[in-house]
Amino acid sequence: MVTVKICVGTYCYLMGGGQLAQWRNYIPQHLHEKVTFVSASCLGCNEQNAKPPYAKVGDVIIEKATPEKILEEIEKQLSI
Ligand code: FES
Repeated sequence: MVTVKICVGTYCYLMGGGQLAQWRNYIPQHLHEKVTFVSASCLGCNEQNAKPPYAKVGDVIIEKATPEKILEEIEKQLSI
């Protein structure tokens, strides 16, 4: 089981995090039982070097998160 946190803090939300939060409804069928999505208010971005939107897959922070990057990390952690 992998936990995916999607930042819906204001900065990330405006930079695409809101759309990422919707993506959870479209993950591949074979992952439905293996992935838990939760929303996070802020994953600790640093305003000077921020690369939003942020997501966290397990313990790994994903900068400029996209569905593709998140899916790649999920599959890596599940060793699919
Ligand atoms: S607002 Fe998204 S990581 Fe801080």
